[in-house]
Amino acid sequence: MLMKTGVPGLDKILKGGFRENASVLIKGAPGSGKTVLALNFIIDGAKNGEKGLFITTEDLDDVRAYAKTLGMNLEKYEKEKKVFLVSQTISLKKLVSIATPLDIIERNKIKRVAIDSLTIFKFSTWGNELNYRKEILDLINSMRKVLLVAISEEDFTSVDINGYQPEEYLFDGVIRLLKVRKNNRYERCIQVVKMRGQDHSIDIYPLIIKEGGMFVYPDEIPFVLLEKETDFGSKNGKRS
Ligand SMILES: Nc1ncnc2c1ncn2[C@@H]1O[C@H](COP(=O)(O)OP(=O)(O)O)[C@@H](O)[C@H]1O
Ligand SMILES: [Mg+2]
Repeated sequence: MLMKTGVPGLDKILKGGFRENASVLIKGAPGSGKTVLALNFIIDGAKNGEKGLFITTEDLDDVRAYAKTLGMNLEKYEKEKKVFLVSQTISLKKLVSIATPLDIIERNKIKRVAIDSLTIFKFSTWGNELNYRKEILDLINSMRKVLLVAISEEDFTSVDINGYQPEEYLFDGVIRLLKVRKNNRYERCIQVVKMRGQDHSIDIYPLIIKEGGMFVYPDEIPFVLLEKETDFGSKNGKRS
């Protein structure tokens, strides 16, 4: 069964949505929209009766305030016990414990989990790629009963260069968020790099972030990638 991603337009690119119980990695440079996508995923799930857990390295009140700027009322869903927020601090020494999240998932019949971000595992396994991979694999396997969206940070992004990271091979799906430049203009874009077991588009599509979160335009080509200038510029890169 396919589940809605929570991002308008993205389901069409995925020809339906995410597979139930899939593990999906969202990668992108800072400011590319990773946290916004994760918030959409959790809030939209809660609206449709699928309880969500949001694990963050940030301060919980900061996350609530951030969601509010996007018109998302996290607190309302928290009060209704449809969304749970957990803070996971970055530690150099301690291995990350997923006991608390797993307990919350079990007790509350959580269906969707978002982790923002996998950096928590990078710090605890610093420099040891084998240990890092093992931690990520354990995480994915322990979350097989839920739909998992995990965020990883990319150092640089370019449309034509994809710096594959070790964790990408472990997830069922990988989605890339990019900012693509043409002259002095940047445009936000999204690409589904892989999604095991399902047919999907591999093309690059434009997206915007505004009130309500992320909106993907599955029937449009990014202005910045158009061969001809056509009306590039007149729309000022803003889709309505
Ligand atoms: N309330 C908002 N209204 C409009 N745009 C926003 C809003 N909040 C964030 N954005 C845009 O989204 C970008 C950050 O997205 P975010 O998902 O936090 O990035 P990251 O990939 O680093 O997690 C900001 O730089 C800004 O351009
Ligand atoms: Mg973020």
